[in-house]
Amino acid sequence: MTCDPPIRLGVAGLGRAFMLMLPSFENDPRVELAACAAPRESSRTAFVQRFGGAAYDSVEALCGDPTLDAIYIATPHQMHRTHATCAVMAGKHVLLDKPLCVTLEDGEAIAQAAERAGKIVIVGPSHSFDAPVLKARALIDSGSLGQVRMVHALNYTDFLYRPRRPEELMTSEGGGVIFSQGVHQIDIVRLLAGGMVSTVRATTGQWDDKRPTECAYSAHLTFAQGAFASLTYSGFAHFNSDEFCDWIGELGHDTDPTAYGKARKALQSVQTPQDEIRLKTERTFGASPDPAVPAHNEHFGTILVSCDGADLRLTPDGVWVYGHTQSDFLSTPLDAIPRKGVMESLVAAVRQSQSPIQDARWGLASLEVCHGILQSSEAGTDIRMHHQVPVRRTEERKNQI
Ligand SMILES: NC(=O)c1ccc[n+]([C@@H]2O[C@H](COP(=O)([O-])OP(=O)(O)OC[C@H]3O[C@@H](n4cnc5c(N)ncnc54)[C@H](O)[C@@H]3O)[C@@H](O)[C@H]2O)c1
Repeated sequence: MTCDPPIRLGVAGLGRAFMLMLPSFENDPRVELAACAAPRESSRTAFVQRFGGAAYDSVEALCGDPTLDAIYIATPHQMHRTHATCAVMAGKHVLLDKPLCVTLEDGEAIAQAAERAGKIVIVGPSHSFDAPVLKARALIDSGSLGQVRMVHALNYTDFLYRPRRPEELMTSEGGGVIFSQGVHQIDIVRLLAGGMVSTVRATTGQWDDKRPTECAYSAHLTFAQGAFASLTYSGFAHFNSDEFCDWIGELGHDTDPTAYGKARKALQSVQTPQDEIRLKTERTFGASPDPAVPAHNEHFGTILVSCDGADLRLTPDGVWVYGHTQSDFLSTPLDAIPRKGVMESLVAAVRQSQSPIQDARWGLASLEVCHGILQSSEAGTDIRMHHQVPVRRTEERKNQI
């Protein structure tokens, strides 16, 4: 048996998102962290000290490195178009942290650039790669439960009060809960309900003048296959919906019961936007310890799926299947490689030219729903979708390019 050499990965942006992917990259022998691009010299130095490899001061220089197979882009949303198109045009496959980007025009440009270059853009990680979500999708694909009829998704967090860059509080720059958090929920619900959203009706909330962007929304989605879904998210919450998930947090750790109000308390020390940027930087690579190893899968709040033959309830440890006469729990044990679904997609893209479900066109469809939520709230009407793509089975995604 031949053993493929590790995929040589370049990383663009060494911030919080990279910190969260680090355990996956470090625990997967199929991937080598071979280079980075970051504006801050201190993070570049920290990267080289820990992983070796090359450090560049621009994403353009990183993409020009001929030894790299793929680029992980974890720069702010509004830079995703420039960085993703640069990478695919340089012949690299891309793992692009969600969301695809901010505007539909930029999203279309990324998708077209990838198609022209014959390269795959994976939009992830997103919580649609979580093992319980993939387990539920596999159950639905098996056909044993009949059709998906209805999905409910609910999540209450302190998202708005975590340290933010100024543009993360500006909707036009992709700030607020819709682009950063809504897109997780949309990805999950689309994956479970078949992908093809027909209409979006929604109301959004902006409840804090000091943080003037969407902090909450409720949306009603209809699907071409006949299913419908409700999606509710509050990033303004005082209640923590981890309580509905056995007090397990989004990243799979047990929620600290003494941490009530932690984000709002920490923000009380902030006087200026620079103070807040500093607070955020403390959570990035080279400035903070590695994330602790989780005891459970990641999750994105309560998810319920009603099918003809059963209701499914996703938990951080698996999927409850409530059938007509009996209920079963299907566990999804933790893998040695965190975020395994994301890593599998990266490896399949580079080694087999296989697209994941969550490719650039999928990301564009989820982004369209984000805009649909904003537009519907503004106009008070249903918004019809035009860029939707279905969940494609593995065979349809093989040798895509
Ligand atoms: N914060 C999270 O928990 C999280 C989780 C998942 C995904 N994401 C996604 O990752 C992306 C980044 O968000 P973040 O929270 O990590 O932000 P961040 O500010 O912590 O990190 C962004 C990084 O990009 C770097 N950067 C800025 N301009 C650059 C450039 N021209 N070239 C190279 N690097 C550059 C910054 O120095 C910073 O280190 C966003 O799209 C976000 O949605 C964030």
